[in-house]
Amino acid sequence: MTETDRTIETLLAQGGHFIDPETGAIVPPIHPSTTFARDERYELIGYGYSRSGNPTCAQVEEVLARLEGAEEALVFASGLAGIATFFDTVRGGEHVVAPRVMYHGAADWLRRLAGRRGIGVTFFDAAAPPGAAAPPGAAAPGAARALKAAVRPGETSVVWIEASVNPTWDVIDVRAAAEIAHAGGAILGVDATATPAVTLRALDLGADVVFHSGTKYLAGHSDVTAGVLATRHTDARWEDVKLARTLMGGVLGPFESWLLLRGMRTLHVRYERQAENAMAIARHFDGHPKLEAVLYPGLESHPGHAVAKRQMTNGFGAMLSLLVAGDAGDAKRVATRTRLFVPATSLGGVESLIEHRATVEGPHSVVPQNLLRVSVGIENADELIADLEQALG
Ligand SMILES: Cc1ncc(COP(=O)(O)O)c(C=O)c1O
Repeated sequence: MTETDRTIETLLAQGGHFIDPETGAIVPPIHPSTTFARDERYELIGYGYSRSGNPTCAQVEEVLARLEGAEEALVFASGLAGIATFFDTVRGGEHVVAPRVMYHGAADWLRRLAGRRGIGVTFFDAAAPPGAAAPPGAAAPGAARALKAAVRPGETSVVWIEASVNPTWDVIDVRAAAEIAHAGGAILGVDATATPAVTLRALDLGADVVFHSGTKYLAGHSDVTAGVLATRHTDARWEDVKLARTLMGGVLGPFESWLLLRGMRTLHVRYERQAENAMAIARHFDGHPKLEAVLYPGLESHPGHAVAKRQMTNGFGAMLSLLVAGDAGDAKRVATRTRLFVPATSLGGVESLIEHRATVEGPHSVVPQNLLRVSVGIENADELIADLEQALG
């Protein structure tokens, strides 16, 4: 077996199979140096200046590229730094298409900053055909139709999606989205934060660029803020992304890069346990009298289940949302009554979190007022279920 044949589990567990040739250390060192010396011919020996690249960043970027099946990966100071740097490569006069319900930070960038740069944006409905007043989680095939209608051939340069949209978890068929984007002359970018590559390989499904908030599953311990972009092809746009990262300065620091790599060593097992727990919780609360709905693509009754099953090869993730029977006040009361679930925003960490999403997103939120977003951790599933039961009760 050659090194490139190794499975993702093995690659991750061994942090890229690092062995220091000088010391034999199996954990890579951190290179905090911001600057790097030149040799007697005044040539750079290795790196130049850390904002343009650093050996510790390069180490995690190499593992990330292999994890995603990408030609290259880049790490950023936060997820949003990665998203903003990517959208910086979109020119005035071009057009971007994205889902109406999606991670609110990216949506805010598109709603509030894209216009300043002369970039047009169309939001499509990932849950239903345009115009239909569909509840969250309805009619996934409508997403393809809505996306097709939103793309303007020759003008749309980027289609940006999430495979499972945050926080309603409507499923978007990545392969179909790639075909639609490419037919219209656009590229497809996928925010796969909630669907890490241990279950969904966005580039293999036809995406051109995949993005992660490394703050979430990849790092996994709620102690690093990081962003990741990985590309299928190192084309002109990718060179532009690299230039923009250097000139806007949003690179990830060496300590955070090291922590990210450390966290990724256990990604596989963390994710699998989290997804298992999420499935147990979803099954338990599906049809619960205190809930209007449980939104989780792993439930057979979820309209996106068949697509999710096709594109997620290792469980359905650990994010789910509960629509509480009642209003915003009722939902918030549940979130304040949990004893194990921590009432905090974010996702993908080993500890379970619960949040009233509309409050966190603020006045621009398009999320239902009775929605509680739940990020399931690695705790004991029965204890988590009992905690939600008492909070609902
Ligand atoms: C799906 C998704 N994308 C992007 C981001 C932004 O990442 P960060 O908070 O690391 O900037 C988040 C953060 O919550 C997210 O959930």
